[in-house]
Amino acid sequence: MTSAKEEAVVCKEVFREFEDGTRVIKVLRGTDLSVYRGEFVAIVGASGSGKTTLLNLIGGLDRPTDGTIFVDGTDITGLNDDQMSEMRRHKIGVLFQDQHLLPIFTAIENVEVPMLLDEIRAEKRHKKAMSLLAAVGVDHRAHHMPHELSGGMRSRVALARALANDPTVLLCDEPTGDLDHKTGAEIIRLMRDLAKKENRAVITVTHDPETARMADRILLLRDGKLVDELIGEFFRASGVDISTKKEENSDSSEKPTTG
Ligand SMILES: Nc1ncnc2c1ncn2[C@@H]1O[C@H](COP(=O)(O)OP(=O)(O)OP(=O)(O)O)[C@@H](O)[C@H]1O
Ligand SMILES: [Mg+2]
Repeated sequence: MTSAKEEAVVCKEVFREFEDGTRVIKVLRGTDLSVYRGEFVAIVGASGSGKTTLLNLIGGLDRPTDGTIFVDGTDITGLNDDQMSEMRRHKIGVLFQDQHLLPIFTAIENVEVPMLLDEIRAEKRHKKAMSLLAAVGVDHRAHHMPHELSGGMRSRVALARALANDPTVLLCDEPTGDLDHKTGAEIIRLMRDLAKKENRAVITVTHDPETARMADRILLLRDGKLVDELIGEFFRASGVDISTKKEENSDSSEKPTTG
């Protein structure tokens, strides 16, 4: 069943610097990353270490100072703005904490938004949006407005929307940061399972050890590079031991909170 592993995202020697008045802030300093289809990778790191910067580069919202980024085999650093928009529209799904649903549209209309630019017939679009809402467990709220939904339901709708264009890669930046722990864990599990089923790659930035623990791999962004050592140390500094790396049983979501 498994063919050769397909790389969904490859970053090679990626640099990103920002000019801040007179100073140059060197955020990413030769970052390398490979993420395969079907893989769920968590990125952790101190505040300001460049996690969002990296996601923005992979998502084509920003361009690197140097280096190469491949998404589904295409070097996106060589694309012009129109080509980049196409890429974003067809290959990349994003789930960011501050990416709210459009308040004047119902849940299902929000999920249909990414499909509007493609010439998909209304009926087909609607059907697909409804099946996505069913997959995330909120089809019974399809015709409700966002303000009529709970925070967890809104996150589910946002996840359905992020998957509407069948992305190769789903990029998440603290996607459940504003949810309670249990709801957050449910969303992450759902995201992981849906992505695996559809063979999508997921890269999620998180500060939450429980989220990180659900990932296939955890990488630490430190000094502008991704490393897979020192993860334990990173979490221990916040008082959490993640040495039992993987959660597996469905109701292992309660955890001792850090003191
Ligand atoms: N557009 C920009 N212009 C100037 N500096 C920027 C810009 N974007 C990010 N930076 C700087 O780059 C560094 C990394 O920022 P980034 O947002 O990627 O961190 P982060 O790891 O996501 O942090 P957090 O965990 O707090 O979200 C910070 O010092 C930030 O101030
Ligand atoms: Mg950030």
